[in-house]
Amino acid sequence: MISRRPLLAALALAACHSGTSSAPAPTRGATDAGTPQSLSADARYVPAPDRRAAVFPMEWRHKAGRAPIIGTHAMVASDAPLGSAAGVEILKLGGNAVDAAVAVGFALAVAYPEAGNIGGGGYMVIHMADGRNATLDYREVAPLAATRNMYLDESGKLTDRSVVGVTASGVPGAVAGLTEALAKYGTMSLAQVMAPAIRYAEDGIPVDSITYKSLRGGRALIEKFDGRSVFLPNGEPPAFGSTLKQPALAKTLRAIAERGRDAFYAGPIAEAWTSELRRAGGIITMDDLARYRPAWHDPVRSAYRGYTLLTMPPSSSGGVTITETLNILEGFDSLPAFGSAGWAHLLGSAYQRAFIDRNEKLADPAFVSVPIRELTDKRYAAKLRATIGHMHATPTATVSATMREGMETTHYSVVDERGNAVATTTTLNNLFGSGVYVTTAGFFLNDEMDDFAAQPGKPNMFGLVQGEANAIQPGKRMLSAMSPTVVLDRDGSLLLVVGSRGGPRIITSTSQVILNVLDFKMTLADAMSAPRLHHQALPDSLLVEAAGVRPEVADSLRAMGYGVATGRGIGLVNAIMRVRGGYEGVSDPRSTGRPIGY
Ligand code: GLY
Repeated sequence: MISRRPLLAALALAACHSGTSSAPAPTRGATDAGTPQSLSADARYVPAPDRRAAVFPMEWRHKAGRAPIIGTHAMVASDAPLGSAAGVEILKLGGNAVDAAVAVGFALAVAYPEAGNIGGGGYMVIHMADGRNATLDYREVAPLAATRNMYLDESGKLTDRSVVGVTASGVPGAVAGLTEALAKYGTMSLAQVMAPAIRYAEDGIPVDSITYKSLRGGRALIEKFDGRSVFLPNGEPPAFGSTLKQPALAKTLRAIAERGRDAFYAGPIAEAWTSELRRAGGIITMDDLARYRPAWHDPVRSAYRGYTLLTMPPSSSGGVTITETLNILEGFDSLPAFGSAGWAHLLGSAYQRAFIDRNEKLADPAFVSVPIRELTDKRYAAKLRATIGHMHATPTATVSATMREGMETTHYSVVDERGNAVATTTTLNNLFGSGVYVTTAGFFLNDEMDDFAAQPGKPNMFGLVQGEANAIQPGKRMLSAMSPTVVLDRDGSLLLVVGSRGGPRIITSTSQVILNVLDFKMTLADAMSAPRLHHQALPDSLLVEAAGVRPEVADSLRAMGYGVATGRGIGLVNAIMRVRGGYEGVSDPRSTGRPIGY
C-alpha cells in the first residue's frame, strides 16, 4: 500500500499558506511587456484564422512567427533528418503511420545513436483513423539478477553503477516493441520498413556537423568502452564530411528483418551479445531476453476544455501527470496571459502538485497498485486546485519523493494520408546510454536502471528522496516520464501529435506545447518556440529557460516565494498539427530535428 502522507502534508501546508480554499484570481497580463512579433516570418505561410500572435520576452532567443513545414498528405517529425526521411520513404511506398513509425525507430538507431536505439526502450501511442486507439509499453525491465540495493557500496552510499557501465542496463525492449507494433497495426513486412535503417548502417550516414558535435559531446563516455572503435576511430569522431558505416549493426538489423524479434532475443546474436556483456560483468541473461514482452494498454484518455488527450499510462508517469496537471488548470476559465507571473505561478503550482503524486505513487502497475483513476479524476484535481495560493508559492512538503532522471531521449511524431497517427518516445536514458557498446551486435546499451529509486526513502547522491513504489525488483519496469500524446479536436478528429525529450521535463514541455496551442491559440511553430518552465516538486523551485521570462516576472515570482532557477533548455519536442489542407510539422528550435512532409 503506497503512502498518501506526502500529498496530504502538502495539502495541509498549502491550506495554511493560502488561508482560503478559493481559486486564485489570475493576474491577466499584469506583468506582460514586449512587442508581438509578426505572426509569419515566411510570406507564403498563412496561419489558420483562429491563431493569435505570440508575445515572447524581448531577449528570448527564439522569435515568434517561424513558419512550419507543411505537408498536404502526411508528415514525419523527428530529431534526425534521416529518421524523418526513413518514415516518409515508407509512407510514400504506401505504408501507414505505424509502418513509418517502426521505420523511423530503426532508422534512428543508426542515424541518431545518441538516443535512437535497439538497446533501449520506449512507448508508442497509436490513433487509427478508424477510431482504434492503443498504447504500447516497450520499456526496459530490471534483469532477473537485479537486487534492491545493487547500486549501493558497502557503506550504503549510492554509486554511479546505475548510470555508467555494464550493470546500468535494463533488458532492452525496443526490438520487441517495434516488431510488435508492426505486427498488430502495420501493413508492411519488417524487411520493407527496416530497409532504410539497414541501408544507413551498410552504406553509412554522412558525418554532418550535427553528428560530429553529438559524438564529440559523448566522447568522454564513448571512449571508456568499445564503441570508440566505431565512433571515435582516432580518438575523435569521424571527420566532418566523411561517411560513418556500422557493419555490426547492419548485420543485426538484417537478422531482425529476416527473423523478427527472435533474432535479438534468442539465437546466436543474443548469445553473442549477452556473453560479451556478462564477460565484462553485466547481468542480463538469455533468460531475461526470452521473458521480455512489450505490453499493450488502453491510453489514458482525458478531456481538456472539450479536446481529448490520448496519452501513455504507467509504467510511464507521463500521461497521468499531464492529465492531472491539465485537470487542475481546466478549473480556471482562462489561463493568465502567456509569460506573466500569474501564468508561471499557476502552471508551476499545477505541475508541483501533479509531480508530488507522480514521484510517490506511480510505478510499474504489474508490481504496484497505481491509483490511475483517482489521480486523473476531475474532482480530485479540484481539491488540488483549491490548495493553490493566491499569487504565492506553496513549499513542497520536504517528505515528498522525487527522482533523479536522465535528461535525454528522443520523440518522433508521424501522421499518414489516412489520418492515422503515431506518437513515439524512445530512449537509452542518458545520451549514448550506459556508454557500453556491444561490438558483436553493434549497439549501445541503455542506463535505464537509473530511473529506478536506487535508495528508496533516502536522499541519493544529489540529496533527493526517492519513492518506495519505484524500488528495484527483478522483471519490473522503471518509472518513466515519456509522454507520447495524441490530441483530438472538439469534433473528435486528429489535432496534434506531440512528445518530447528531457527526463521529467518531458512532461512539462509536452504539456506546455499543448497548452500553447489549445489555450493561447499559438501556431504550432510559436507553441514550440515559446519559452518553457518546469516544476517537479523537488527540488522545490521553478526552473525557467535563460531569458525565457522577463526580469520583472522573475522578480514577481521571487516575491511570491518561488526559488527561480535558470537553465538552458527545457525539452526537445517534435510535433505535428492538423490544419486546413494538411499537416504542419515542427521540430523544436532547441533541437537538430527536421520534419518532412509531402
Ligand atoms: N529515461 C527518461 C525517462 O524514461 O523518462
